[in-house]
Amino acid sequence: MKTNFSDVQNVRHEQAKHSVLISCPPKIHETKFLQYLAQHGEVASHFFFDSNGTHAVVEFVDLQSVESLLSVTKIPSDEDVYVVPYKSRYIRVKTTNAGQQFPKCWPQTSLPMNNLIEKLSTAENIEDQAQMLLDELQLTEESIRLRYLVSSLISDIATAYFPEATVHLYGSSVNSFGKMGCDLDLFLNLEDIKGYKSGKSTGAYTAEFWMRRVSSGRTAQQKILSVIGECIDSFGPGCNEVHKILNARCPLVRFSHQPSGLQCDLTADNKIALRCSELLYIYSNLDHRVRALVFAVRCWARAHGITSSIPGQWITNFSLTMMVLFFLQKRNSPIIPTLDQLKSLAGKKEKCIIDGNDCTFVGDLNKIKQTANTETLDILLIEFLEFYGKFDFKTNCIDIRKGLEKNKPEVAALYIQNPFEQTLNVSKNVNQPQLQRFVNLAQESAFILQDQVRESAKIGKPWGLASILLTNGSDRETTTKRKKKILASERIGGLLDSLKDNGNTGKRKVEH
Ligand code: GTP
Ligand code: MG
Repeated sequence: MKTNFSDVQNVRHEQAKHSVLISCPPKIHETKFLQYLAQHGEVASHFFFDSNGTHAVVEFVDLQSVESLLSVTKIPSDEDVYVVPYKSRYIRVKTTNAGQQFPKCWPQTSLPMNNLIEKLSTAENIEDQAQMLLDELQLTEESIRLRYLVSSLISDIATAYFPEATVHLYGSSVNSFGKMGCDLDLFLNLEDIKGYKSGKSTGAYTAEFWMRRVSSGRTAQQKILSVIGECIDSFGPGCNEVHKILNARCPLVRFSHQPSGLQCDLTADNKIALRCSELLYIYSNLDHRVRALVFAVRCWARAHGITSSIPGQWITNFSLTMMVLFFLQKRNSPIIPTLDQLKSLAGKKEKCIIDGNDCTFVGDLNKIKQTANTETLDILLIEFLEFYGKFDFKTNCIDIRKGLEKNKPEVAALYIQNPFEQTLNVSKNVNQPQLQRFVNLAQESAFILQDQVRESAKIGKPWGLASILLTNGSDRETTTKRKKKILASERIGGLLDSLKDNGNTGKRKVEH
């Protein structure tokens, strides 16, 4: 039985509400610390981590325990500064009875690239390499809990103004494609406020709230985000480097949450993006190869500077994911269904229209038929690289809704149709040189992998996925030289073959 997106979200949100973030002394007696907390109720789970000091995330079984702990927590009395008396679930625990030991901290960083390459080279095949890479890079249970807790703390700030608003996580923190250290995408949902559009009339009378009116939804979002951004900046415990980026296509507040080390992007009313996260979650949970291939491709692209953490004309992780999904839909026996097929499986209650866009698809993973395709990741990785190494980007656009190439509706180096807002291009930002770098790299990497199949050259050197993560070094240079040599000999071979073919055709012509 597979767990649906909304069930995961509900469980995680509940866990977060029952949790507190605690700054601890660097050395602490773990058992005594837990005994101290247990005075307020049973602790369901806890872990320590080290990020700008030692911290703990502690989840209580009952919500009252959180209240109880907060009720005995005092406002600090620093003498030379004035503290802003905003209370939150981020607290500091001090003790006169510090332990002798550092608590076991959960590691927050993943293996550096060189070590990762070394580790991957010990695997049996690319399938295992991809799994290793996934195990190394994916978000850990602790990181997921911490992300939901930060979201919950931000929600507490936002709901001080808008009590019925909710804060949701979207993007790679929840769509199963998140890697350690990825940003935290949050959105403030004001639309689902109870009675937002309904209300009740009594006889001839109706009542409505007297509300400020602004010229557009975008203006409303900008105003709300501006105020919430101000609150986060002025009162948000542990939040700093707050930037309001309100003129972006999707207005947002960017800030750093210091104790968790997370870079957060808060947007308003970004329901389509949440829907998109659910769609990606569904795809990734349908078949284990989806996540493994997406991680491998994202890591490969990042290693070569195809993607970047700085916004610009590069391909984004989101676009890369779309490309992997499209490729998997295009296999002879498709590994994942098209979005239209997922839509056709949706029940009546799952019909979902957001801002006039049809975002309907089935939410129950167990209703989707498993693929009969059994191709290994060894095959899929090479074929992915070959597929995009020779994809006709000039003419065609990528569309995961239909799972078919179609003519580009407008000029753009790379056109990936937005699955929900179907007139938009997800990769509009990408320019021709960046696309060309991607294509060249895909061709070169495909060649490296094929060459290894030809040479069965595994021993002692990075091979398979590890070899295409290498950015320079002698191995790569040797391969490039070999590639030129082989390409030249293939070209001559091809020429001879085509001469032979022409001869045949000529003969047939005579025969007919
Ligand atoms: P990371 O690089 O790991 O953060 O991946 P991500 O999927 O979280 O990407 P990002 O933080 O850039 O964006 C968050 C979410 O916003 C994505 O998962 C998408 O749902 C959505 N998104 C990002 N870029 C676009 C875009 O160009 N168009 C549309 N429609 N949605 C986008
Ligand atoms: Mg993100």
